Amino acid sequence: MASFFASSVPLPVKSFFLACFFMAASAGNFYQDFDLTWGDGRAKILNNGQLLTLALDKASGSGFQSKNEYLFGKIDMQLKLVPGNSAGTVTAYYLSSKGSTWDEIDFEFLGNLSGDPYILHTNVYSQGKGNREQQFYLWFDPTADFHTYSILWNPQRIIFSVDGTPIREFKNLESNGVPFPKKQPMRIYSSLWNADDWATRGGLVKTDWSQAPFTASYRNFNAKACVWTNGASSCSSSSSSSSSGSKSNAWLSQELDITGQQRLKWVQKNYMIYNYCTDTKRFPQGLPLECKMS
Ligand SMILES: *[C@@H]1O[C@H](CO)[C@@H](O)[C@H](O)[C@H]1NC(C)=O
Repeated sequence: MASFFASSVPLPVKSFFLACFFMAASAGNFYQDFDLTWGDGRAKILNNGQLLTLALDKASGSGFQSKNEYLFGKIDMQLKLVPGNSAGTVTAYYLSSKGSTWDEIDFEFLGNLSGDPYILHTNVYSQGKGNREQQFYLWFDPTADFHTYSILWNPQRIIFSVDGTPIREFKNLESNGVPFPKKQPMRIYSSLWNADDWATRGGLVKTDWSQAPFTASYRNFNAKACVWTNGASSCSSSSSSSSSGSKSNAWLSQELDITGQQRLKWVQKNYMIYNYCTDTKRFPQGLPLECKMS
């Protein structure tokens, strides 16, 4: 710093550069928002906190988690997945609470051989019960560039989106007896690990360790969310409404507009490859209640 701000630089210019430096450092900084939790050095924060990478090799995968717990939020993250032969690898990116009756909202990216499509696997757990898988192909190569994966979680619904296109909606149907995640604060978690017993073509294609280390990258984390601290939500105070400092909390009651509903239908028609709600063989006693409601 000392040599960069040489004393010949006029003061207004100096303070301009200082302002830019501190603003950039505070907007979605991985050092500030996340802890690297496992993988013994395989998880890394780079570029002054603007980039995070996870690696997997034969000895171990790696992972990180948010410092904050959230009770509702609109959470965006850009991911670039393991390129090339990623068969057998799974990149999980999810929200989860703790305990035996936990809630969870999952994105999992199942790798594949070079040129074969990833599967985006999603699930919703409420009070420890999941079994709500929906799987999709993507309409782009998720390893070629960063794409935005978002979870909107408010008291009425959960919406999974990819680059702003909704791919799945899980509505609050508590009034029909379907538990909905809304009492347990959740943290954001992500991990890259080996799951070649099931991930690629149901476990037929194994991880090729000669390609290791496998790497997935993260950037541009952005959360408009209610931060949960010591049993209180940042959203219940009238003055501040979100962790990002934004005044608007429209996301807390956001729903799909007509365009969103049409996009959702387009994805479900063209890219959905598995839906638990149509898997009658799996549920011989009858489909889960929420499947009959929508
Ligand atoms: C991998 O590619 C095969 C062949 O195209 C496909 O059947 C499968 O769904 C793809 N994805 C995964 C994760 O297995």
